[in-house]
Amino acid sequence: MKTHIYIQPTPEATAAAFADFLEKWILKKEPFNLALSGGSTPKILFHLLAEKFRERIPWERVHIFWGDERCVPPGDPQSNYKMTSETLLQHVPIPPVNIHRIRGEEPPQKEALRYAAEIQQFVPEKNGWPSFDLVLLGIGADGHTASIFPNQKTLLEAKQICAPAIHPESGQHRISLTGQVIANSRKVAFLVTGHSKRKVVQAILEKSEESKAYPAAHIRAKKDLYWFLDEEAAKREF
Ligand code: 6PG
Repeated sequence: MKTHIYIQPTPEATAAAFADFLEKWILKKEPFNLALSGGSTPKILFHLLAEKFRERIPWERVHIFWGDERCVPPGDPQSNYKMTSETLLQHVPIPPVNIHRIRGEEPPQKEALRYAAEIQQFVPEKNGWPSFDLVLLGIGADGHTASIFPNQKTLLEAKQICAPAIHPESGQHRISLTGQVIANSRKVAFLVTGHSKRKVVQAILEKSEESKAYPAAHIRAKKDLYWFLDEEAAKREF
């Protein structure tokens, strides 16, 4: 695995740097199986893709999955699907059949099994696991990624493709890809911006003892692991 780190001055420039890479990667591979992160960080990216990459990316070849979802209905303000649909999917010509939503409204265990089956139907298997072309991940200030939280690090080695999780503070039920599926992706990209992530990013990149507690520190990729950071997240704190 090769690690690539790209640091830009602002969140907008960070999103633009990632979008340029995404365009290049999608143009080389059809179909392109892409798992997206949720939360707030990717909103800038999704708006940019909708505004500037509508014609530049052959969206008909892209299959959209999610790395995790909150167990809420698709119309709930907390839904990663709702956020992605409003900022990106409604604005690009991606066939609806290419959008593989995690059904947050379903019972978590039942949906984890169903979603795993849908992934297996569309994402080719390599080394015994589905192999996404790219998994986009964010990082929480506690070092979680997808919905693999520090108190549920067993999901990093779980034998399931995806599994139920619970947010340690809010108690919100989640569905998350597991660490083995993420590690089996050709490429994994962290998109991380903002001062609040600086401590975790620095610990992970320095491979400090403290970083071992962070699920994001244990994420691997088959080929390439990318970090797209703004200066606020990347600045070293002495
Ligand atoms: C989610 C995400 C989660 C997110 C981090 C960072 O469903 O919330 O998938 O892993 O990437 O929590 O969230 P922010 O981008 O909102 O800081």
